[in-house]
Amino acid sequence: MSYPINKSVKPDLSAHFDEATNTITYIVKDPDSNHCAIIDSVMDIDYAAGRITYDAADKLIEEIKDRGLILDWIIETHVHADHLSAAPYIQGKLGGKIGVGEKIMVVQETFGKVFNEGTEFQRDGSQFDALFKDGDTYLIGTMQAFAMYTPGHTPACMVHVIGDAAFVGDTLFMPDGGSARADFLGGDAGELYESIMKVLSLPDEMRLLMCHDYGPNGRAIQWETTVAEQKANNIHVGHGKTREEFIKFRTARDAQLSMPKLIIPSLQVNMRGGEVPTDKDGNPMLKTPINRL
Ligand SMILES: [Fe+2]
Repeated sequence: MSYPINKSVKPDLSAHFDEATNTITYIVKDPDSNHCAIIDSVMDIDYAAGRITYDAADKLIEEIKDRGLILDWIIETHVHADHLSAAPYIQGKLGGKIGVGEKIMVVQETFGKVFNEGTEFQRDGSQFDALFKDGDTYLIGTMQAFAMYTPGHTPACMVHVIGDAAFVGDTLFMPDGGSARADFLGGDAGELYESIMKVLSLPDEMRLLMCHDYGPNGRAIQWETTVAEQKANNIHVGHGKTREEFIKFRTARDAQLSMPKLIIPSLQVNMRGGEVPTDKDGNPMLKTPINRL
């Protein structure tokens, strides 16, 4: 696959760090128009109380309104397991199309079974406005973006490349954070390695924007690095680590990790494009499958 890279375009980025989930949400603006996209938004949940709020999303909405921007796209790099998407809430306020990788159907099939969903849960990706295939392009104003298929963390992961900036989702973390886990249902460490190599085959000077940062060893939160820095310093894949070395390391590490705190609500909401499921009477309601994850 040859991708339509255009690193001469430098989108204007505004990053919003969500402290509750260590997620970074981006507003990505076309430098030549007032059009923008949002990548990986967050809906707030107090899971213990079963309470959903929209403080994080409201901040994005306010910024977009204040700057007089037009929202073309609300992108999900994948079905997140650690936070809930606010995509439909934002779309209701600002418009824009919600896009995700077409392999969302695989994720919907897998977790539709885990949560024992009925036939009312469509497994065809129809909850989203656009389903991207590897190399598909789309426009943010005049600026062309494309999606790069990068499975491994999940089967539906895509990296979105917009001008000189690549939004890596859950593939790489900052060089001292390494890589995303590959042990969720449908994940695969070997595939993740190949996807990371695809990201690292982008031009050395391209900016890489993380979806998460946990500030390892007490350093301040960061989210931007470059392909060259990752190749040189990434603790999991840098210094020319082989696929076999990576699979061995990743598998052993993943066996030590506990499930993300919000995986159960996140999967149910995010596989529906950010909509909260409802019970037979139409009340918003979540399930907890026992001993399935
Ligand atoms: Fe993730």
